[in-house]
Amino acid sequence: MNEAKKKLFQPYTLGDLSLPNRLLMAPLTRSRAKQPGDIPWELNATYYAQRASAGLIFAEATQVSPQGKGYAFTPGIHSEEQVAGWRKVTDAVHAAGGRIYLQLWHVGRISHPELQPGGEKPVAPSAIKPAGAQTYLDPQQGLVEVPEPRALRTEEIPGIVDQFRCGAQNAERAGFDGVEIHAANGYLLDQFIRSKSNQRTDHYGGSIENRLRFPLQVVAAVSEVWGPQRTGIRVSPTGTFNDMHDDDPVATYAAFAQKLNDTGIAFIEVVEDSFQGNAADGRPEEVIKAIRNHFNGSYIANGNYTAAEAAQRIADQRCDLVSFGRLFISNPDLPLRFLRDAKLNEYDEDTFYGGNEHGYTDYPRLALLGISESSPAF
Ligand code: PHB
Repeated sequence: MNEAKKKLFQPYTLGDLSLPNRLLMAPLTRSRAKQPGDIPWELNATYYAQRASAGLIFAEATQVSPQGKGYAFTPGIHSEEQVAGWRKVTDAVHAAGGRIYLQLWHVGRISHPELQPGGEKPVAPSAIKPAGAQTYLDPQQGLVEVPEPRALRTEEIPGIVDQFRCGAQNAERAGFDGVEIHAANGYLLDQFIRSKSNQRTDHYGGSIENRLRFPLQVVAAVSEVWGPQRTGIRVSPTGTFNDMHDDDPVATYAAFAQKLNDTGIAFIEVVEDSFQGNAADGRPEEVIKAIRNHFNGSYIANGNYTAAEAAQRIADQRCDLVSFGRLFISNPDLPLRFLRDAKLNEYDEDTFYGGNEHGYTDYPRLALLGISESSPAF
């Protein structure tokens, strides 16, 4: 193994949690929660346990409240049944030797009255319809455009902070090892952070400091529950998915990284490509550097990395760990495959969202002579 590649397989301490390698599973929406009730179940437990050789699993984005839901079949963490369902998942992952964090999610404007309690309009920092953004309603209607949202009233915001606090408490009861706050990809926290979606005139909009206020209140509430060492956040400073844009991402994310550093949270996971997998335009190196320079915790890079690029990036100290999404969908034993330079299974995009075990728990594992799949690391 070359020197750079060895880095991927070096143990790492994330916050106060020991990881056997630096190759993490990114959070991935798979839309296979049991219905009715958006409840995690045995099928999800099998899927995550199959991937327990990841240094750490980030479970899929999970709504902290009924209002935080934006797509049919995504799981929640606000009912007792959901907590019990997630407990099946965390028990299965732990029994397989893995570690798993929950991603706490509120979609904000990326929703639809048909998915909202009381058929209400989805909520957002400002009443701005994201051009071209879609959500998934049900198998009959499929993907539909999201409508114009309703701007949150100032006095409603503490209640949404409470939704995240409650989600964090429920994640603890469900047996997770920690949590990641979803502040990326055009969902509620990202809508507050970035200038195009936040046109508020109260103290939650306008200046960078104001745009960061609500996300930082969420971070404070969640780390009060978990302790900062078991709390992290995901951001996508230059992602364009869901019609997102910021006028000055270097300034915005330098300030955010500095404030996050002051909270003592363990990590920032950064979506470094456009989210839809295209890193061809290059990565936003200036923003990456700004975050790295202002944040002393761990930096997790994400975005269409190959094993070789990921290892080199760690060797160059541009990140500490790398999370892989789509490759983990089709390769449950991804670390072993990287280690052996083995062929990777191709993923089938048609089975990413919704459906059953097909394209979910039926991707084959490597069967190489002389490799013990039951060894502790794999
Ligand atoms: C999606 O369901 O398309 C989705 C969910 C969470 C993300 C990104 C995309 O962060």
